[in-house]
Amino acid sequence: MNPAAFSRSWCATRRLLLACVLMGVAAVAQAQTIRYDATTRVFRIDTDAVTYAFGVNENDQLQTLYWGARLSTGDALPAAHTNEGNVSFDPPTSTSLQEYAGWGGSMYVEPDLKLRYADGNRDLVLHYVSHRIEGDTLDVHLRDIRQPLDVTLHYVVDPATGIIGRSALIENHTKQVVTIDSVAAASWNLPAAEDYSLRYLTGRWAGEWQLQTRAITPGNTVLESRRGSTGHENNPWFAIERGGDWAEDHGDVWFGALAWSGSWRITVEQGVLHQVRVTGGFNPFDFAWPLAPGESLSTPVFYAGYTSGGIGEASRLLHRFELAQIVPQHPKPRLRPVLYNSWEATNFAVDQAGQEHLAELAASIGVERFVMDDGWFGARNDDHAGLGDWVVNPKKFPHGLKPLIDKVHALKMDFGLWVEPEMVNPDSDLYRAHPDWVLNFTDRPRSEGRNQLVLNLARQDVRDHVFKVLDDLLSHNDIAFLKWDYNRNWSEPGWPQVAPDQQQKIYVDYVRNLYGILAELRKRHPNVEIESCSGGGGRVDLGILGHTDEVWTSDNTDPFDRLSIQDGFSYAYAPAVMMAWVTDSPNWVNNRRTSLDYRFLSSMQGSLGIGANLLHWTAKDFAVAKKYVAEYKAIRASVQQGKLYRLLSPRDDSPHAATESVSQDGKQAVLFAFLHASQMKYPYPRVRLQGLDPDARYRWRSLHGAPVAGTLAEASGAYWMNHGIDLALKGDYQAAAIVFDRVGGKR
Ligand code: GLA
Repeated sequence: MNPAAFSRSWCATRRLLLACVLMGVAAVAQAQTIRYDATTRVFRIDTDAVTYAFGVNENDQLQTLYWGARLSTGDALPAAHTNEGNVSFDPPTSTSLQEYAGWGGSMYVEPDLKLRYADGNRDLVLHYVSHRIEGDTLDVHLRDIRQPLDVTLHYVVDPATGIIGRSALIENHTKQVVTIDSVAAASWNLPAAEDYSLRYLTGRWAGEWQLQTRAITPGNTVLESRRGSTGHENNPWFAIERGGDWAEDHGDVWFGALAWSGSWRITVEQGVLHQVRVTGGFNPFDFAWPLAPGESLSTPVFYAGYTSGGIGEASRLLHRFELAQIVPQHPKPRLRPVLYNSWEATNFAVDQAGQEHLAELAASIGVERFVMDDGWFGARNDDHAGLGDWVVNPKKFPHGLKPLIDKVHALKMDFGLWVEPEMVNPDSDLYRAHPDWVLNFTDRPRSEGRNQLVLNLARQDVRDHVFKVLDDLLSHNDIAFLKWDYNRNWSEPGWPQVAPDQQQKIYVDYVRNLYGILAELRKRHPNVEIESCSGGGGRVDLGILGHTDEVWTSDNTDPFDRLSIQDGFSYAYAPAVMMAWVTDSPNWVNNRRTSLDYRFLSSMQGSLGIGANLLHWTAKDFAVAKKYVAEYKAIRASVQQGKLYRLLSPRDDSPHAATESVSQDGKQAVLFAFLHASQMKYPYPRVRLQGLDPDARYRWRSLHGAPVAGTLAEASGAYWMNHGIDLALKGDYQAAAIVFDRVGGKR
């Protein structure tokens, strides 16, 4: 029973009414995360490790006061007051840290909301009106000084991680149409400091998740997608560190991620007085949202947190938050099954006999989920035709999918299927019947990507069609898993069927309908799991992760390239959602040859899959794979849902990489270490573990590779963390995996 419930029942029994009221007040005050001080007009959010505060200043505007390490409850923050600005050019309204800035008055920083009225007015000045605190949520109501244009700022706090989610609701209670030109979910103002630096993730197809670092100096850094979806190029995640040290295990780090899978923008800005501000939401590029009287628009959620434990801890907080609060099976998602995927083995040449054969081979090594990729439907023999026609190809599967699915079940695996529901090939029955269903501008060219066009999911009829196709597929076939692909970005994003002033709503309505389809499918088919794929990792964000259980990290399956891809991914997203396949050598991406051991260990750092052509494997390969799959099942709880420590970074041409995953209960730690190229006879750097109990004892066992001769068989956590372990790694593309099991006794 929690303390509040205990005190309620105790009070009821004793009927000590007055005492109970007093106790109740005390209990609430202690446990409360969000408080408002009516005297100073200060809002304060406290979790175990973090304090976030803002106040209503003398102009009735919201101003950020503090965000960082937890302050004592006794430290009453002074009321908000604007600063002096900088003469006439930078007035206080612009240089004071506004919590959510309307563009109006003298405002030169990135605004959160910019709009125009039908009568030509474009001035918006938001003042505090009221607020409501309910449990771990806070709503603050703001209104324009002249017009009933209302903004409600919503805050939701996760006490376990200190991560705060912020979003805004814009309501037009005026009598005229108001067009929103740009709207952010939130701005995060950092404490005054001069030495901040920024980390963010960039990439492209087959080269996602590259970590970038740059000092924050006067000016803006804009991270964005104008592509209609999240995109490979930038990911909506940021981390900012104070001091320029970027240590994994110490240092002040502020971090955040935007939960949106459409065009998005995050602006990191250093103002004239060196204030740092991060503003994120819908991308204002080509955006316009008319709000008729009585209409409203809500933004996605921009999550952010703080830690004094360095970038490593920032990642672990995000991982924990994603699994406990975001993914569909939160707070306790199932462990990811080991899957087999047919794509790299068969490409489009799938058929019943071939897939059944692959399924038998996959089952023999312990695979738990068999996934048939592209090629099973319509006239889909290559990427020129068939997308949109989601009927089983009768030549390849004369009796439908049932015989294959039954076979997969008989082999004790569940069955998964590839779909790309938002796309259409012009050479398809769907496009021939509905050429108006795609994004397009009337009488303009329709640019193709991979010979396909994007269906306009913002249209209700298209949305309903896509939902029905998938609902039928899942209703008529025993499918446990969909790999949901999306293989191009937008072009000519027109929506000619609606009035011209409504057409730019497509950027939001499309994504909302996508989320709506995913949510409804999950509701009607609660056992179906879904993977978000977009030519690899082109649609990974906290929005899509609210509806999908895992993501395809990259089409690049080279196990060496994967080390830096996976390293970058881990800054923002949990290993549990990071799918990693063992594929063939030489790899199709770069012709690199690596051993099967190396390929397995690289993939075992995430959620393991096999994507190799098993028809080409030797008996020895099967034996090796069977061993690793069994070993993986014994460590996957630690790898997928444990605490990840990045010990040696593969970035910057380092010849080494090492990670460690510690199980939630602290009983197991798994060390993966890689050597890309031995040089000058240097030994492998000594690896010092992290996150162990210094007083507990741990015994190691090797999955592959070994420590140097003479290494202690068992030692304390303090020993492994301070002294470390020397690994006998030599040569090129070598790998080791060592499991540390906690054994009884103290050091
Ligand atoms: C994309 C995916 C691949 C595969 C192909 C199928 O490229 O990322 O994994 O599914 O589509 O066409």
